[in-house]
Amino acid sequence: MKVLVADHPLITHKLTVLRDKETNSQVFRHLVEELVTLLAYEATREVKIHPVEIVTPVAPMKGAMLDTPRPVVVPILRAGLGMLEGMMRVLPSADVGFLGMVRDEKTLQASTYANRLPEDLSGRQCYILDPMLATGGTLVAAFNYLIERGAKDITAICLLAAPEGVKTVERAFEKSSFPITIVTGALDQKLNEHGYIVPGLGDAGDRLYGVV
Ligand code: URA
Repeated sequence: MKVLVADHPLITHKLTVLRDKETNSQVFRHLVEELVTLLAYEATREVKIHPVEIVTPVAPMKGAMLDTPRPVVVPILRAGLGMLEGMMRVLPSADVGFLGMVRDEKTLQASTYANRLPEDLSGRQCYILDPMLATGGTLVAAFNYLIERGAKDITAICLLAAPEGVKTVERAFEKSSFPITIVTGALDQKLNEHGYIVPGLGDAGDRLYGVV
């Protein structure tokens, strides 16, 4: 498994504003979109393309375009929804599948309440959007859903990650023969006893959409 910490100064700047508890939901949502667009640039470095020949107003040339079938973007509801717009700016022709997952605040176990994915993901590059890689339980379950449907090239984009979560995902897929990648804006210190990332940014869903 590959883990890429995209520690670009602009990403660090935007993450710092995002983390600040004084940042309101409106600014938070806007920053999440911007951050995902920047992270998507790293995450799509290996997106599949094929050569094409075109003619510019000046001369013919050999270029490249995205392969079909198009990539699939899978936000994990609820907080991953806040990342979708920023991702679609980079990959506007991608298909979108949805996974609704919630973790029990006591056991920290993830359970699925919605699953809307293409039946057949073979040959498709998949990008999971989940802002917080905390215990890793949600991400392992999400990877498994995609693998069950034939996906063999999966990248997760997370704003922040905890070392414990990265280890859990690494352990779960250490024998995987195909590319599993995590792209994150920062690798934080640890998880606290409630499963929150420290220093983190709090509850990403609440900060995006309010406490419901
Ligand atoms: N989910 C969140 O929203 N925040 C955390 O710190 C961990 C999981």
